[in-house]
Amino acid sequence: MRHPGPVSDDALAQLHRLRTPEGVAATALAAELMAQGLDVLPALARLRSRVGAEHAGPAWELARLRARARPVFGADADVLFLTADTLEQAGRPALAARRARRLLSGEVDSAADLGCASGTDTIALARAGATVLAVDTDPLARELTAANAEALEVADRVWVVAGDAVDLVAAARGGEVAGCGAAVLDPARRAGGRRQLDPDRWSPPWSTVATLLDRVPHAVVKVAPGLDHERVPAGVEAEWVSAGGSIVEALLWGRAVSVAWRRASLVRGDDVLELTADADPGPAPPGPVRGWLHEPDPAVIRSGLVSLVAADVGATLVDPTIAYLTSDAPTGSPWVSSYRVDEVLPFNLKRLKALLRTRGVGRVVVKKRGSAIEPETLAGRLRGPGAGTATVVVTRVAGAPTALVCDLSDR
Ligand SMILES: C[S@@+](CC[C@H](N)C(=O)[O-])C[C@H]1O[C@@H](n2cnc3c(N)ncnc32)[C@H](O)[C@@H]1O
Repeated sequence: MRHPGPVSDDALAQLHRLRTPEGVAATALAAELMAQGLDVLPALARLRSRVGAEHAGPAWELARLRARARPVFGADADVLFLTADTLEQAGRPALAARRARRLLSGEVDSAADLGCASGTDTIALARAGATVLAVDTDPLARELTAANAEALEVADRVWVVAGDAVDLVAAARGGEVAGCGAAVLDPARRAGGRRQLDPDRWSPPWSTVATLLDRVPHAVVKVAPGLDHERVPAGVEAEWVSAGGSIVEALLWGRAVSVAWRRASLVRGDDVLELTADADPGPAPPGPVRGWLHEPDPAVIRSGLVSLVAADVGATLVDPTIAYLTSDAPTGSPWVSSYRVDEVLPFNLKRLKALLRTRGVGRVVVKKRGSAIEPETLAGRLRGPGAGTATVVVTRVAGAPTALVCDLSDR
């Protein structure tokens, strides 16, 4: 989120206004009008007439962002200062708190947040008891972090400074960076609204990530979920965290905090389930399709721990290259979603359609792995008059394109 000079100046001036007593009152009024469910234009007109044009627009925008942040940030959202950019880049506070606790285990009591944005990690580190040096190249990010540290009453443990993480990490010595015994690095992985897939184009780039992990043993770096395992340095634990069936963060842990080779973590409400391996467990064995199909959680797949889950539930892979498991019996494992397999046939649209018609299936959910089909399009083409439902899984079985018709129900 680089704001070139004038935009940043404008945004800074706006932030200063929002922090004045008049700005705080205007934002509270905007939130009230929003909660009443008024349409935007009449609400804005009313807000303008009460607080003036200068405050109305920014106050409305901040109230809107706070409402958007509330489901994830809870009550903190009501006092946070945010921009659309920093909210988009912010991680989940509950996960930031979990990371901060793990990072600070041991003797470490100071941490650098190397690219603080609006301060989610800074606040989590301060709340976990650390003295925090919050650094960002962006003046707006620094102001937001300072404002949020004050709003959440941790400002006495937070120092916000201008600095370039690239230089600070290059100067790291004796296990410390910028005089701190621990560090969080969450590089910006988007530029111009587009995701940067190449880690060398993150800001700071991969070279800074690697140097930090090398020089500062109490460090954690947030990386892209698709990071190539080849990049993970030896002795560094890589963790993939999922919630609701999607990866929510991927982390590399410095050597003083690493305890495993890989870790898959599954967030379920307030709990986090974890699966670890000390070394690469290798692939699960393949075998023929049996009565149940299991789709491993994405954290298990990304962390390369599918074979651990396979061994645990007595399952084999349907294909050596595909992360679908199969077994004779259902399983209560939280690490997989399971489907009863009712029919297995070579993938052929006509045959599949005919089979679903005979079985009275009108509505299907299509899932796929290792196939070029478009699930939504195929589901549309398979829709029929029947009242029944089914899940159709299109995949490769022992190398052959195959459709598995699962959970058939004739309603
Ligand atoms: C992904 S955001 C951090 C989000 C934050 N951890 C959170 O959860 O809210 C990355 C931040 O790094 C900052 N940044 C990018 N390159 C930097 C550099 N070389 N030095 C310091 N900060 C940098 C960006 O301005 C941005 O605020």
